[in-house]
Amino acid sequence: MSTALKTPEAHVATTAYDVQKIRQDFPVLNQMAHGKPLVYLDNAATTQKPQAVINAIVDYYQHDNSNVHRGVHLLSERATQAYEKARETVQHFLNAAHSSEIVFVRGTTEAINLVAQTYGRKNIGKGDEILITAMEHHSNIVPWQMLCEEKGATLRVAPINDRGELLLDEFEKLLGPKTKLVAIPHLSNALGTINPVREITRLARQHNIPVLVDGAQAAPRMRVDVQELDVDFYAISSHKLYGPTGVGVLYGKTKLLEAMPPYQGGGDMIASVTFEKTIYNKIPYKFEAGTPDIAGVIGLGAAIEYLERLGIDKIEQHEHELLVYATEKISAIPGVTVIGTAQNKAGVLSFVMDGIHPHDIGTILDHEGIAVRTGHHCAQPVMQRYNIPATARASFGLYNTKEEVDALVAGIKRVSEVLA
Ligand SMILES: Cc1ncc(COP(=O)(O)O)c(C=O)c1O
Repeated sequence: MSTALKTPEAHVATTAYDVQKIRQDFPVLNQMAHGKPLVYLDNAATTQKPQAVINAIVDYYQHDNSNVHRGVHLLSERATQAYEKARETVQHFLNAAHSSEIVFVRGTTEAINLVAQTYGRKNIGKGDEILITAMEHHSNIVPWQMLCEEKGATLRVAPINDRGELLLDEFEKLLGPKTKLVAIPHLSNALGTINPVREITRLARQHNIPVLVDGAQAAPRMRVDVQELDVDFYAISSHKLYGPTGVGVLYGKTKLLEAMPPYQGGGDMIASVTFEKTIYNKIPYKFEAGTPDIAGVIGLGAAIEYLERLGIDKIEQHEHELLVYATEKISAIPGVTVIGTAQNKAGVLSFVMDGIHPHDIGTILDHEGIAVRTGHHCAQPVMQRYNIPATARASFGLYNTKEEVDALVAGIKRVSEVLA
């Protein structure tokens, strides 16, 4: 099998991608860190925000601040309109069939917990199985473990190979009459692996099993079409998508969302309430109890509009070039091992260095002005799979440059000099 990284298919290089110009949209990037120009390579943890997003949030608080869905007055109407417009922006971004399939939540973690607590509690029982993979973020493990514990169900884990690729044959063997849900990441935050979601949904469909996809890392990096992928649930986080923290999205197919019981009870999620009986609101409001993060949702809408203006295909291509360039340079440094070498990979470059703890790598790089992540990346089972305590992880964003990769490479060489 070739070790070359696969090139993203759907890229169109019509107009040039002017990364220096794009960087000017991100005020935070224009600063020194420990006396060196900041090199921000921790985008898988969270991304920086363009001025357009910051403006949208400030604008909302300066001009429109009001509660949504509740007032007849002008400000409330404007706030509601902006909030619902953001829902449509997300709908088109994910190519969902209806805007009512877009539920605003706090983030990917809450989206998955919502499905576990509603769909899961209703449909998964004693002896049933939930199938995940060996490359999950904790947020796609723990909610299912909690559910399994409550219901007497079993969590099954599809294995990966040494490159960090899902073993599809093994995955398929684990599907059966007991499997009541499949939950997989689209793109692994620890390894960078892109999973063959369409193939997975095709296999699950043969057994009538719904599929939830953790899209936290994929949505900022590639075109996601939930209809084409034929997923039942898709979870994303705004803050990884150049939007504000505290907001995310659960996409769910209408039929499933309608059949699911509500998540939390309170205002906005009801059609009518008496002490005897409450009638729940229609979707998506049934799942949005209480005053939401209105400014956050509006900021998320602005972030997606910004990404669409740049072109997600171009972002994908740009990050792919950075990943290929960085992989080549970093793999060539003596004593460095890249963890996660899937053929189909994006955004994330995890590595370890002989005899050096990743935390020391991170600390020395920080002194060079370079921000990377070190640790288990909320994916401890991945670390166990590779028999390592942690990795250092550089993760790319739409504003990173080859010069920044060069700075990273020089920084890693410096780590070698100082500690090896
Ligand atoms: C693959 C993946 N899933 C889920 C999450 C959780 O996202 P959040 O903390 O925004 O809920 C993350 C965050 O790092 C992630 O990388």
